[in-house]
Amino acid sequence: MPVKIILGAQWGDEGKGKLVDVVASESDYVIRYQGGANAGHTVYISGKKYVLHLLPSGILTPGIKCILGNGMVIDPDAFFEELEFLDKNEIDYKNRIFISDRAHIIFPYHKIIDQHSEKSLNNHKIGTTGRGIGPAYVDKFNRKGIRVAELFSDDILKLRLEKNINYFNKILVEQYFQQPLKFEDILEKTKIIAKQLEPFVVDSSKIVFDAWKAKKSLLLEGAQGSLLDIDFGTYPYVTSSNPISGGASSGSGLPPTAIEEVVGVMKAYITRVGEGPFPTEENNKIGEKLREEGNEFGATTGRPRRCGWFDAIAAQYSVRINGLTSFALTKLDVLDTFDEIKICTSYEYNGKSIDNFPASLHVLTQCKPIYKSFPGWKENISEIKNIIDLPQNTKNYILAIENYCGIPAKYISVGVNRRQIIRQ
Ligand code: GDP
Ligand code: IMO
Ligand code: MG
Repeated sequence: MPVKIILGAQWGDEGKGKLVDVVASESDYVIRYQGGANAGHTVYISGKKYVLHLLPSGILTPGIKCILGNGMVIDPDAFFEELEFLDKNEIDYKNRIFISDRAHIIFPYHKIIDQHSEKSLNNHKIGTTGRGIGPAYVDKFNRKGIRVAELFSDDILKLRLEKNINYFNKILVEQYFQQPLKFEDILEKTKIIAKQLEPFVVDSSKIVFDAWKAKKSLLLEGAQGSLLDIDFGTYPYVTSSNPISGGASSGSGLPPTAIEEVVGVMKAYITRVGEGPFPTEENNKIGEKLREEGNEFGATTGRPRRCGWFDAIAAQYSVRINGLTSFALTKLDVLDTFDEIKICTSYEYNGKSIDNFPASLHVLTQCKPIYKSFPGWKENISEIKNIIDLPQNTKNYILAIENYCGIPAKYISVGVNRRQIIRQ
């Protein structure tokens, strides 16, 4: 298997976890390259549900090595919680989890500031997951962050942590009228955390490079989705990292020339959780039916997801900015009971048709989706194993999406379980 990326091609929750789990058995390493515990990747194995936030979804397949790359922001509390979860489920992770020494640490103040900042935004909330992601990346890019490597340099850790806590305490007290955090307490806790994290810490860029040179199979797992990308998403209603394929190189240390395959995961409809423009949103009975049939509730926060029809303009944009070589169409079974299924094929803006995903939120919020309608198949497809056995209307729907995207649907997912996947 070549070096492959599996990433979200929409607004997240496309079913990346399921797909990574399916493909992981063909890989030696699974590497997360951005984001943090804002992700919620669901995997079902033998009917049992597992939700992963920080750990790569390859962890549920015995023997596969999992790397938390340098592009991630790591909340140690969330990390240890996930290890506990593995212990409880008797999943052996010995010598299988590696954390980059260049990844950044999420501290309690990042989470507190994230939550207070959201509250203070009133009508302009982003709808973050409250996991401290934005504030941690701000520190990283402001060159004030504390990386995993710094946890093991007492002097640097003390100096930087004290500065950061003083800075955030000012905001907490003066802006949000909260109690200040105690530097000594956080320093002590951080030293304990450092000891617990130490056995997992490596220069992961060297490990992935050497593995690539040794022709091992590497699978890079994106979190969030392309339309939540800090550069190419619906800014400012985005996350603070680069989920797109470009981020896989900077977030793992693998050179871009190593990457041979980029699979975009797309739901057969589309969802979004949190605020922000969503041209094909069906804020009505259709949206409710999609939410109900697709069980569209956030895996991290439990929030109901906003639902709508497949957006081919957004999909084409995703194909372009990621250089997708193929896509995985997920949750196709969710459409089983619909009489009519729609695909948005262009936007109408100011009386004119546009076929490019606009940068301006002002424009995007005023775009009216123009739809092509498809007859439903009204049949249960969740046990079908081969593409030829799918109803003709299902095949037509898949083919239409392939034509709009200009790339093949390599995987078609028809249920939550590992076996419910059709490969072509
Ligand atoms: P991720 O963040 O991209 O990994 O996706 P989530 O795990 O947040 O959300 C996807 C949800 O859809 C999970 O509950 C999955 O178990 C479920 N899912 C994935 N693929 C399929 C599918 O083909 N059919 C159905 N019905 N559910 C699916
Ligand atoms: P997975 O990996 C869907 C959304 C939040 C919010 C915005 C910013 O499971 O697909 P953040 O906490 O990142 O600062 O929030 O991004 N968001 C996601 N939406 N799936 C995710 O992850 C998400 N991670 C963040 O809802 O709108
Ligand atoms: Mg998710």
